[in-house]
Amino acid sequence: MDKIPPRPEMFDFHGVQMTHYFTDNWENIQNFQARPDDILIATYPKAGTTWVSYILDLLYFGRTEHQTSIPIYDRVPFLELFIPSFGSGKDMVDNLSTSPRLIKTHFPVQFVPKSFWEQNCRVVYVARNAKDNMVSYFHFDRMNSAQPEAGDWSNYIHRFMEGKMVFGSWYDHVNGWWEKKQSYEKLHYMFYEDLIEDTGREIDKLCCFLGLSPSAEEKKRVTGGVQFDNMKKDNMANYSTNPVMDFKISPFMRKGKVGDWKNHFTVDQSEHFDEDYKKKMKNPTLQFRTEI
Ligand code: A3P
Repeated sequence: MDKIPPRPEMFDFHGVQMTHYFTDNWENIQNFQARPDDILIATYPKAGTTWVSYILDLLYFGRTEHQTSIPIYDRVPFLELFIPSFGSGKDMVDNLSTSPRLIKTHFPVQFVPKSFWEQNCRVVYVARNAKDNMVSYFHFDRMNSAQPEAGDWSNYIHRFMEGKMVFGSWYDHVNGWWEKKQSYEKLHYMFYEDLIEDTGREIDKLCCFLGLSPSAEEKKRVTGGVQFDNMKKDNMANYSTNPVMDFKISPFMRKGKVGDWKNHFTVDQSEHFDEDYKKKMKNPTLQFRTEI
């Protein structure tokens, strides 16, 4: 990228807070033509997108030249990203020569191009508990100049509760996708906390959903390869090659834990957040764990 542009403003876009980096290519993205074997990896930002992308990439393609020389954000393009000097996610998807194509999106469910549903594509959704998700997003916004400024922590909590984050409200996002799962069979809804608790078990479930049956040895290789410390030191997975991120402020692979929110929230902030959470998260079938 030639020059890092100024931080973008957020604005309301069809009822969701967005920045122009994710709306400038809207028409083309809405007309995106999915293929039946495309796999969409959908998440609210910072829920474990890269982790699950890396797992799927290893399951399908193994540790080939492709994995060791191409950054994960090029192997699994970010569909709606559009930064003229950097690239268009849609063009990157169109240029992928792999099959299946692995495609990342942070769109709330109602923004997903209809072709994915028409083609009956498999979709993997990853959700993470609100508090850890927010902490991770806060540090990401601090270090990523393609995001609006994070500002101070207490203000950030309010913004998060009001849904004034890029890609909108966490509450609407996780609920919207959860509802979709009730009517769309090919949607696998996963939780970051489950992946932390037992990565092997979650990879088994994923394989079952994808119709894959790796050997025990392959599975062991994938499970080991995607551990936090391995991904953190892998320059093709840790975003160290990304020009808009300043790792001196915070690394992309930051902590990779459940419960880091306890190091950020005061007792008052946590109580206030929990009260508000109860009002917004009324569906008893969708439960998150904030510790394991
Ligand atoms: P933290 O900031 O809490 O460390 P995304 O890929 O959606 O942007 O999510 C990034 C978050 O997932 C970061 O969380 C990152 O550390 C965490 N993550 C990435 N790979 C991981 C892994 N292998 N194990 C655990 N956490 C991982």
